[in-house]
Amino acid sequence: MKTSRARTVAVVGVLALVGVVAAIGGLRACNSDRLLHDGATGAAGSVAEFLARHWADPIAAQGSPPASFSGLEASLDPAACGQCHAAQHADWKTSLHSRAMGPGLRWQLHLMSQADANACLRCHAPLAEQKALLAREMQWPQAPSSPPPAYVPPRLHLEGLTCAACHMRRHQRFGPPAAGSAPVASAPAPHGGFAAHEAFRDSQFCAPCHQFPPEGARLNGKLIENTYEEWRASPAARAGQSCQHCHMPGARHLWRGIHDADMVRQGLHASLQVRRAAAGRLSVVAELANVGAGHHLPTYLIAEIVATLTLVGGTGEPLAVLGRHVIARKADLDLTRELSDTRLAPGERFRWEREVSAPAGSGQMVELRVEVHPGKHYEDLFKSVLERPQPPGGSAGVLLRQALEHLRRVPYESHLIRQPMPAR
Ligand code: HEC
Ligand code: HEC
Ligand code: HEC
Ligand code: HEC
Ligand code: HEC
Repeated sequence: MKTSRARTVAVVGVLALVGVVAAIGGLRACNSDRLLHDGATGAAGSVAEFLARHWADPIAAQGSPPASFSGLEASLDPAACGQCHAAQHADWKTSLHSRAMGPGLRWQLHLMSQADANACLRCHAPLAEQKALLAREMQWPQAPSSPPPAYVPPRLHLEGLTCAACHMRRHQRFGPPAAGSAPVASAPAPHGGFAAHEAFRDSQFCAPCHQFPPEGARLNGKLIENTYEEWRASPAARAGQSCQHCHMPGARHLWRGIHDADMVRQGLHASLQVRRAAAGRLSVVAELANVGAGHHLPTYLIAEIVATLTLVGGTGEPLAVLGRHVIARKADLDLTRELSDTRLAPGERFRWEREVSAPAGSGQMVELRVEVHPGKHYEDLFKSVLERPQPPGGSAGVLLRQALEHLRRVPYESHLIRQPMPAR
C-alpha cells in the first residue's frame, strides 16, 4: 500500500518530464516533412530521403548477419568496431554519446512503461537490440522471451548512442564518402565494404535528436529543442559550417559541447576593461559575446552560465560584488513555463557597465569570472524529487542519488579575467 503510493507520487513527477518528450513522438513524420522542403540545393532532397529511411523510428532489428561475416564483423559491440576503427572508438568513449544511458536517464526508466521508455531510447539508445535488452532487464511484459543472438553483447543497452546506431542498418555499414584517397580495399573488404552517403556530412544528420519538430513541445512559443533551426539562421550556416565542422573536426568522434571548457571558450568570448571616468570615478565594462557557437549559447534550457563581476583585493580576496548575470533559458521544473531567456544568439553580446569610485590606493582589481553549470536544470529537478515526502526507492532511488552526485561535480570555471583599478 505504502510502496504503491510512493510509486504513484514518483511516477506523476516523472510524467511531467515525459510529457515533454512524449510531445516529440511525432518526430518520425516531421523529419521527412521538414527536411524535404529544406533543400537549398538539388542534392538536399536525396539527403532528406536517405535520412528519413536511416532514422525511421523505430530502427528495425539488424536481423541475421550475412553467412560470410565473421563473429567480429557481425558484432554490434562498439569495442568490436574499435578493433579495426581504433581512433573513432577511442574518441567516442570520451564523448557524451557513449554515456547517453547514464543514471540521470536510467532512474526515470525504472518508473516508466516500456512504451514511454522506448520514446526516451529513441535518442539515448536507439537500436532495437538495445530496447530488447532493457526490456529483459526490466522484466517488462512485452520483453522478448529468448536471450539475444550472439552478435548482441549483453550490455549493449548501457552503451548509449553506439557506432551501429549511426552507421549500421540490417548489417550493412553506411558512412561518409571517403575523403581524399580511399583505402584500397583488399578483396574482400571487411563487413562487405560500406555504402557512402553525403548525408553524414550534413547538419540534417544530427537533427532527429537535436531538433524538435514544429509540433513538438514549446514554452513561451519557442520549441524546447531548436538547435538545427538556430543553426540554419546563423552566420555559421551561411559560411557552410555544419554541426560536424565544429563538433567533429577532422571527422573526429568527440562531440564536445557545454561540458567542455575549451569548447565553451571557443564559443563565448569574455572581455573586461577599466577606464577613467569623471572626477575620481572609474567605468568598468565587461562583455560576453557568442562568437563561435553555431546556435544559441547555450542551445538548451538545461545549462546555466553565471558571470560575476567582483571587486577584489591584492590577493584576490572579494571586497564587493558589482553584479551577477545568468546566461540561460530558465523554466520551471515541470517545464510548463519559461521564466527567462538570456541566451546569446550567434553574434549577440551582453554588455555590462558599472561606474565605481576609484580606490584611494593601488592594489585593487576588478574580476570577471564565468562559471558553467552544464546540468543545472536536471540538478534542480533531481534535488526536488529527492526532497519529496516519498522519494523513489529501490534501484530508481540508488540511480537518482548517483545522478545527483555526478551533476554536483560537473560545474567548472571557464573564464577568469582581472584588471587593475587605477588609484585616484
Ligand atoms: C575486421 C575489421 C573491421 C571491423 C570489425 C569493423 N570495420 Fe568498419 N571498416 C573496416 C575497413 C577495412 C573499412 C574500409 C572498407 C572499404 O574501404 O571498403 C571499413 C569501413 C567502415 C565505414 C566506412 C568509412 C568511411 O570512410 O565512410 C564505416 C562507417 C564502418 N566501417 C563502421 C564500422 C562499424 C560501425 C563497425 C562495428 C559495428 C565496424 N565498422 C567494424 C574494417 C572493420
Ligand atoms: C540518435 C540520437 C542522436 C543523434 C543522431 C545525434 N545525437 Fe548528439 N546527443 C544525443 C544525446 C541523447 C545526447 C546527450 C547524451 C547525455 O548526456 O546523456 C547528445 C549529446 C551531444 C553533445 C554533447 C552536448 C553537451 O552537453 O556537452 C553534442 C555536442 C552533440 N550531441 C552533437 C551531435 C552532433 C554534431 C550530431 C550529428 C553529427 C549528433 N549529436 C547526433 C543524441 C543524438
Ligand atoms: C529528441 C531526442 C531526445 C529524446 C526523445 C530524449 N532525450 Fe534526453 N537528451 C537529449 C539530448 C540532446 C540531451 C543533451 C542535452 C544537453 O546537452 O544539454 C539529453 C539529455 C538528457 C539528460 C541529461 C543527461 C544525463 O544522461 O543525465 C537526461 C536525464 C535525459 N536526457 C532524460 C531523458 C528522458 C527521461 C527521456 C524520455 C522521457 C529523454 N531524455 C528523451 C535528447 C533526447
Ligand atoms: C552520432 C552518430 C555517430 C556515432 C555514434 C558514431 N559515428 Fe562514425 N561518423 C558519424 C558521422 C556524422 C561521420 C562523418 C563525419 C565527417 O565526415 O565529417 C562519421 C564518420 C565515421 C568514419 C569515417 C571516418 C573518416 O575519417 O572519414 C568511420 C570509420 C566511423 N565513423 C566509425 C565509427 C565508429 C567505429 C563508431 C563507434 C566507436 C562511430 N563511428 C560512432 C557519426 C557517428
Ligand atoms: C560554429 C561552430 C558550431 C556549429 C556550426 C554548431 N555548434 Fe554546437 N556548439 C558549439 C560551441 C562552441 C558549443 C559550446 C557552447 C554552447 O554550449 O553553446 C556548442 C554546444 C553544443 C551543444 C551543447 C548543449 C548546449 O546547451 O549548448 C549541443 C547539443 C550542440 N552544440 C549541438 C549542435 C548541433 C546539433 C549543431 C548543428 C545543427 C551544432 N551544434 C552546430 C559550436 C558549434
